[in-house]
Amino acid sequence: MASIAWRELMGVGIPEIDADHRTLLTLANDLYGAIGDEEERLILGSVLKAVCDFADSHFAREETLMAAVGYPGQAAHIAAHDRLRGRAAALARRYDGDGPSVDTKDCLDFLHHWVVDHICTADMDYRGWVVGRPGLATLLTDEPETGLDGAPNLDWRQLSLLLVDDNARFRRVMRTILEGIGVRNIAEAPDIDTAKVILDAVAVDAVVTDGQIGGRCSRDLLGWMRERPNWPRPVVVVLCGAEQMDRAAVLAAGADEILEKPVSARRLLTGLARLLIRIPSE
Ligand SMILES: [Fe+2]
Ligand SMILES: [Fe+2]
Repeated sequence: MASIAWRELMGVGIPEIDADHRTLLTLANDLYGAIGDEEERLILGSVLKAVCDFADSHFAREETLMAAVGYPGQAAHIAAHDRLRGRAAALARRYDGDGPSVDTKDCLDFLHHWVVDHICTADMDYRGWVVGRPGLATLLTDEPETGLDGAPNLDWRQLSLLLVDDNARFRRVMRTILEGIGVRNIAEAPDIDTAKVILDAVAVDAVVTDGQIGGRCSRDLLGWMRERPNWPRPVVVVLCGAEQMDRAAVLAAGADEILEKPVSARRLLTGLARLLIRIPSE
């Protein structure tokens, strides 16, 4: 088992579809890199949830394309999607119900099988039917019905976000989720002091911060931000289970939303979208 590097020959040739495939591959690599990390279990749960959420969105995109061009292998391909979706959902459910019974290496085997046997094999079979067909761009810009981004009118590519977490592996997964929806400008801080330097230097549209950063509480960062004119909002704080007692205090300190590790990609993205539309950036 190893990480898998993206290669051009893995591309279907449709930028939106290839971006989805890169996101799935990167999530698998993020999980591989987290083996042995102190937050391995939380990263495993976050990756499983993200895979389920992105698969819904991606499969809807592919199935729309196949239907539009009358791809003859459509029924078998949709059945393969259903099997992958079912297996991913079963792993995520088992993680939620009996976390220790889900082995990281088994999940990686499943994700690698997905990349090699589906993306690099089954998906290549429809490329000849869809690449170059007129009208596909319009189909792909329509938001898939799964609504992963939570706000079709929000242009994620224009946003600038700051991620604060003392765990580099967890920041990596959060970056993959955000880049997967299209965010291009993401700054990272491993501690509160670095976050302050970044916030002094650049304007950001939102902050997503760990609840406890290197032994310091996110309330310290929130308190510093509240003292500033035009402090960046929204601020999403991501707590661990053991930190649940801090919820009320973190909200009182100025957090706009609280999430929990393992993070749900859908909750992160739909929550950010809702907050960003309610609170226009300065
Ligand atoms: Fe695919
Ligand atoms: Fe597919």
